[in-house]
Amino acid sequence: MAEKLIIFDTTLRDGEQSPGASMTREEKLRIARQLERMRVDVIEAGFAASSEGDFQAVRAIASEVKDSTICSLARANERDISRAAEALRPASRFRIHTFLATSALHMEKKLRMSPDQVYEQARRAVRQARSFTDDVEFSPEDASRSDMDFLCRVLEGVIAEGASTINVPDTVGYAMPDGYAALIRELRERIPNSDRAVFSVHCHDDLGLAVANSLAAVKSGGARQIECTINGLGERAGNTALEEVVMAVKTRRDHFGLDVRVDTSQIVAASQLVSEITGFAVQPNKAVVGANAFAHASGIHQDGVLKARDTYEIMRAEDVGWSANKIVLGKLSGRTAFKQRLRELGVMMDSDAELNAAFARFKALADREAIVSDGALVALARQGEAVNSGSAHL
Ligand code: KIV
Ligand code: ZN
Repeated sequence: MAEKLIIFDTTLRDGEQSPGASMTREEKLRIARQLERMRVDVIEAGFAASSEGDFQAVRAIASEVKDSTICSLARANERDISRAAEALRPASRFRIHTFLATSALHMEKKLRMSPDQVYEQARRAVRQARSFTDDVEFSPEDASRSDMDFLCRVLEGVIAEGASTINVPDTVGYAMPDGYAALIRELRERIPNSDRAVFSVHCHDDLGLAVANSLAAVKSGGARQIECTINGLGERAGNTALEEVVMAVKTRRDHFGLDVRVDTSQIVAASQLVSEITGFAVQPNKAVVGANAFAHASGIHQDGVLKARDTYEIMRAEDVGWSANKIVLGKLSGRTAFKQRLRELGVMMDSDAELNAAFARFKALADREAIVSDGALVALARQGEAVNSGSAHL
């Protein structure tokens, strides 16, 4: 059996940090139910100590969602960790995710703490979290800009305290795929007790590299958990898009050799739900979940797809929850696609001459309008019916 890649969804925590994407408890519950239906391994339900509303949302999700591990974020301090544990108590399985920055920049300018203080506090936080659960994740915030020796020291320390997941955030989206993969690999090789933890990636998309960085770290760095969000929602430019990494690992199983538990047929429903709730539209050309992701407009492509789908499709639209691929009829479409759509619409052409005439009318219209709707197509065919006194029929 292949090794497993853990999918950790943080739409309800990092995703909610998108300016303008805040959600009510009820909305979060609806998304959490869909994530469970999609069989996500871990749901980061929120940041329990950040507000009463978030506490209640984490608690409600922990009470209801039973098939995924429920997680809450917590800063590396006593109050945050106890609030997280309290909110998570009703869950059947829960994780506390605690974090502390390790880059010189963050330690000096933001935390105003020395490296030794950060080291001690990180260990203390994990020790406390372990008093509530065996499932503790630690993130050295801004890891990709941290000093390697110090990062190794802190991570060795928190693993010794019992952290079972080490998440390595590229907090500001600064990393490049080869460097990020090498960082994960080096951490795993240099930290003496690294085999006691699962290494996880958490990438931001400031340079549009979140998905590439995450996948490189899985393939070449040995990471076995990806943190991601639906539609790539998240702080600033967003996080790694769940739908993209899941479909990459499934479609290119030959390359990754890993299994994911996610039921991909629920992906489009999850994307549309998150878009509806946050009011963030999904761009039409967005991979996997964009309206055009499985639409074919070029005549050459349409002809190919109608003959054999895999000429221009590497995934099946149905596998991610679309009803089917879409042949978009416009000025680039050919006769085969035109005829096929008319047949789907129940319009049969009695002769080649009729088909040719209708196709000419279609081309003339398509020159004026980018996309020819199904209604317009039927009207085109009926025009011929009037001229030829009933030779085309529905
Ligand atoms: O981007 C980041 O560093 C985070 C951590 C809290 C994991 O979101
Ligand atoms: Zn983040």
